[in-house]
Amino acid sequence: MSDKVLFEQRGAVAVITLNAPEKRNAIDLEMVRGLHDVLDRLLGSDDVAVLVLTGAGDRAFAAGADIAQLKERSSPDALAAINASIFKRIEDFPCPSIAAIRGYALGGGCELAIACDLRVAGRSAKMGQPEVGLGIMPAAGGTYRLPRLVGLGKARELIYTGRVIDADECLRIGLVNDVVDDAEVLPRAMALAEEIAARGKLAVRLAKATMNALARPNEGLAVSMESVAQALLFDSDDKHRRMAAFLERSRTKAPRDGGSSG
Ligand code: COA
Repeated sequence: MSDKVLFEQRGAVAVITLNAPEKRNAIDLEMVRGLHDVLDRLLGSDDVAVLVLTGAGDRAFAAGADIAQLKERSSPDALAAINASIFKRIEDFPCPSIAAIRGYALGGGCELAIACDLRVAGRSAKMGQPEVGLGIMPAAGGTYRLPRLVGLGKARELIYTGRVIDADECLRIGLVNDVVDDAEVLPRAMALAEEIAARGKLAVRLAKATMNALARPNEGLAVSMESVAQALLFDSDDKHRRMAAFLERSRTKAPRDGGSSG
C-alpha cells in the first residue's frame, strides 16, 4: 500500500491519514490509489463502524488536488473524474465518515471533507474552494455538495470568489460540525466516532443510506455537468497560465495569498 495514505484501526474506528505533509497533503494520483486500496480493504470488514479521515502534520488536512499533476491533465482526465470518484466512494461508504481538519482544507481538500458525513475542525482550519483562481472550478463534488451544506447563496460566494474562510466562519455557516483547539481535533473526532460506534451498526448504516438518498434526488445531472465543464477548463490557456504561475511562485517561494489569486 502507498505510504501516502496511512491506515490504522483503533477498535471499531478506521483512521485514515493523508500523508504528504511537505506538500500540504496535496492529493495526487498515488494518494487517490492509496485511498481506494484502504476502502477496498475495509469494505469486506465487519469490524469497522466509522471512518476518521485526517491529514499528517499540523499545517493541512489537504491543500487540494496536486497542481503539478492537474496542470498536465487534459479533458479526458477531467471526464474520468478521478478525485470525484474516490470522494463519492467515501460518501457512499456504508459506515459514516468524519473529517478531522487542522490547517488548510482547500479545493479537493475541502471537497474531501464535505464528502465525509461530519467535520471536526481545529482553530487553525482554513477552508475554501480556490479553484477559479487557477482557471478551473471545483469538480469533485464542490458544486453540488457545498450548496447542500451551506446553502446555495454561501456556496456561490465561496466558489465565485475562491475566498478561504477561518474555523469560526466555517462553524457559523455550517461547513463544520464542531471547532476545538488543534490538539483536540483528533481526540474529539475519535470520541464522536466512538459515540456512533456504540449505536446499532445496521441502524446507523441504514440511516446514512436513507439520508444520502434524500439529500441527492436529482444529483446525476450536476455530477455529469461538473466533469464536462471541468473538461473544457482543463484545456484552456487560462488554466495553464494560472497553474504555471502557482508552480513558479512555489519554485521561487514568493509569498502567495492562499492560492486564490491568479
Ligand atoms: N498541489 C501541489 N503542491 C502543493 C499544493 C497543491 N495543491 N499545495 C501546496 N503545495 C506544495 C507547495 O508547492 C510547496 O511545495 P515546495 O515545498 O516544493 O515549494 C509545499 O506544498 C508547501 O506549500 P507552501 O505554499 O510553501 O505552504 P504554505 O503553508 O505557505 O501555504 C497553502 C499553504 C495551502 C496556502 C498554499 O500551498 C496554497 O495556496 N496551495 C494551493 C491551494 C489550492 O489552490 N488548492 C486548490 C487546488 S485545485
